Amino acid sequence: MSTTEKMSKTYDPYENVVAVMEEAAEIGKIDKRMFDILKNPQRETKVYLPVEMDDGHVEVFEGYRVQHSNIRGPFKGGIRYHQDCNIEEIKALSVWMSLKCAMVNIPFGGAKGGIKVDVTKLSERELCRLTRRYTYAIEPIIGADTDIPAPDVNTNAQIMAWILDTYSMLKGKPSPGVVTGKPVELGGSKGRTSATGRGVVNAAQLLLEHEGRELSGCKIAVQGFGNVGSHTARIAHFRGACVVALSDISGGIYCKDGLDVNEVIAFTEGGKRLKDFEKSGVKHITNEEILECECEILVPAALENQIHEGNADKLKCRYIVEGANGPTTYEADRILEERGIKVIPDILANSGGVVVSYFEWVQNIQELTWEKEHIKEKLFEIIQAAFKDLLKVAEECSCSYRMAAYIIAIRRLMYAEKIKGIFP
Ligand SMILES: NC(=O)c1ccc[n+]([C@@H]2O[C@H](COP(=O)([O-])OP(=O)(O)OC[C@H]3O[C@@H](n4cnc5c(N)ncnc54)[C@H](O)[C@@H]3O)[C@@H](O)[C@H]2O)c1
Repeated sequence: MSTTEKMSKTYDPYENVVAVMEEAAEIGKIDKRMFDILKNPQRETKVYLPVEMDDGHVEVFEGYRVQHSNIRGPFKGGIRYHQDCNIEEIKALSVWMSLKCAMVNIPFGGAKGGIKVDVTKLSERELCRLTRRYTYAIEPIIGADTDIPAPDVNTNAQIMAWILDTYSMLKGKPSPGVVTGKPVELGGSKGRTSATGRGVVNAAQLLLEHEGRELSGCKIAVQGFGNVGSHTARIAHFRGACVVALSDISGGIYCKDGLDVNEVIAFTEGGKRLKDFEKSGVKHITNEEILECECEILVPAALENQIHEGNADKLKCRYIVEGANGPTTYEADRILEERGIKVIPDILANSGGVVVSYFEWVQNIQELTWEKEHIKEKLFEIIQAAFKDLLKVAEECSCSYRMAAYIIAIRRLMYAEKIKGIFP
């Protein structure tokens, strides 16, 4: 069965990332003698987490931590809480982390964690107990110089604070470097919360400049209005883009003349959903429709597998800048390429989060605090350098930006593998 046939059966994010890696290795003429090392994670951990619920009954949740590669530095990657979370998804996300850190050339490897849980069904106290039990379960394999978690879908600075506290209690000493994305008051970095969205906008701006265009006035649609989506929309709006559509899990809103993003953020801050946002000139759309709306840049910033062979030929955008990890399937990529829609891939476009996590980790180790302006400048420099590398390899190999990004990342990982050699 060919890769394409296999992929069209059911979407498997891990098969998806491996298929892209295989193709990139071919196009980039990469020596594949050590390639199998990259295709497999170094360690997969599954844990079962008993939690006493508020009414006294006990529930057992399933949790994961997959450590893909630490060849270029400590394992690094977020923790996701989601009812559909499973080991294959976490495996794929861990590979994307290794590729991302290599693409932007920061000294981290890749990992990812998750718990299969519907957070909307848990009270704050239950969420805290679940987080602490998960931290206890993975404590032997995490640490500031081994594996450093961070926020992802449905996790945030508060959850990082609970992880940090539990880990520090177990170690008997404050250990701020064990997580990034924690509150600034506990050693977090200024600018970390908005970093992924800022990086997405930086990437969009660099792409537009390369195309001889500018962000100001450019029509943008953003799917997903959580950490990544809301900051992407806010910063793009601040820099003069016309944000025409936004969505969260409840549905989307569209206004052809542009939405007032700050007004929408203020509306959702009290816990309200976009389906309840009402304003004249603003119409309600579905999460499928937002992907197909009239815009120049589409930013998928929700989950994997949103742009697939069933809708790739219906998209009306000229560019896609991937805020989410893995939003575009392998098959959709081919359709988009044929249609001339350029994609800035996740492993570059949403790297702002891990780049500022790297800054946070560096500040923790050195016991220093950097100012936000400094962080913004350094973030831009790293994304700009990565974008330059991307353009160079895309031209050298006559390939899409996704392939170029994978070629760069795989070359760096394979080179590190080669010069270290294999133990024993
Ligand atoms: N948080 C980070 O720093 C970071 C960094 C890099 C990549 N990412 C990736 O970005 C994506 C979003 O992460 P986040 O941290 O913003 O999560 P989040 O939990 O803060 O927000 C997720 C958003 O997506 C919406 N959503 C969920 N399911 C949806 C669906 N089926 N259709 C449409 N919208 C849906 C939610 O309502 C919410 O608005 C994920 O793919 C994550 O892996 C996050």
